[in-house]
Amino acid sequence: GDAPLVLGIETSCDETGVGLVRGGVLLADTLASSVDEHARYGGVIPEIAARAHLEAMVPTVDRALSQAGLRHRDVDAVAVTAGPGLAGALLVGVAAAKAYALALGVPLHGVHHLAAHVAVDTLEHGPLPGPSIALLVSGGHSSLLLVPDLARGEVSPLGATVDDAAGEAYDKVARLLGMPFPGGPPIDRAARDGSPTIPFPRAKAADGTFDFSFSGLKTAVARWVEARGRAGEPVPVADVAASFQEAVVDVLTAKSVAACRAHGVDTLVIGGGVAANSRLRALAEARCEAAGITLRVPRPGLCTDNGAMVAALGSLQVEAGVPPSPLDIPASSTLPL
Ligand code: KG4
Ligand code: ZN
Repeated sequence: GDAPLVLGIETSCDETGVGLVRGGVLLADTLASSVDEHARYGGVIPEIAARAHLEAMVPTVDRALSQAGLRHRDVDAVAVTAGPGLAGALLVGVAAAKAYALALGVPLHGVHHLAAHVAVDTLEHGPLPGPSIALLVSGGHSSLLLVPDLARGEVSPLGATVDDAAGEAYDKVARLLGMPFPGGPPIDRAARDGSPTIPFPRAKAADGTFDFSFSGLKTAVARWVEARGRAGEPVPVADVAASFQEAVVDVLTAKSVAACRAHGVDTLVIGGGVAANSRLRALAEARCEAAGITLRVPRPGLCTDNGAMVAALGSLQVEAGVPPSPLDIPASSTLPL
């Protein structure tokens, strides 16, 4: 018969995401975002996010089902992001997922947000060869992972940011350039009209680890912009954006390729909101090609937080026979891999 239909729920930050996946095929992907409510604060306000999830949860599930022409009783398993993320936001999704699983009499699968960012790629590019390396870059995390077997939860961290996440750096630099939140897309656009001529620092580039650091870069950009202001000179916004962006993506791509080499892996997956960045995609493509690495990057709409990624990982787990989670699993803001 048909492969099991998996309903995926994601509420770790400011997007209420619901996805429906059957046998590796994405049938629906619906999103309700509270990003506009956070924009005037320049960052996500946890209390506002949690309340918005509660209001959006049931309508977003209903929209996903109607988009796919399916009904609640067609669902065979429920997957949910159990962490990491904002505690109050996660709780709404986990509580909803438990309620759906219990009401429908189907198994519950609590999944890790980062593993789900990797899993979403399988919806576009098919099964992930194991082992692979994954670079996850978003507003909340910047990590390099070794992924021997995604479905079985074999995902181990090789390194991570020691301070700001890559997306956080984009958001902070955008703010100091007077651009709206979230800052990634406007910097990406502005950078296309500029040149990366300002030599901003590449922190940790040659330290031999798979860790990242972006807070010094953000400070360097702030100092450079301030110095311009003091000198009474205009800020070349496009060049600053391009130079900042080049510093970020140079280190991200160099360390990703180095991780592949160190572990003898020839597949790199990039995910997370920053994977939507056009320069990151282009430089990763060029460097992977030169190194004989196959690069897999989901389309931009699947890189940012969504329900499809949770349904994708849930579907992999269900089909691999991974046992379901107990109905009392906690939402964990610091869930380890
Ligand atoms: O994965 P995501 O939607 O949520 C988190 O889990 O954080 O990532 C959001 C982050 C934001 O910091 C946003 O500025 C960044 O991804 N982002 C980008 C681009 N689009 C989104 N950063 C650089 N270039 C982009 N085109
Ligand atoms: Zn994310």
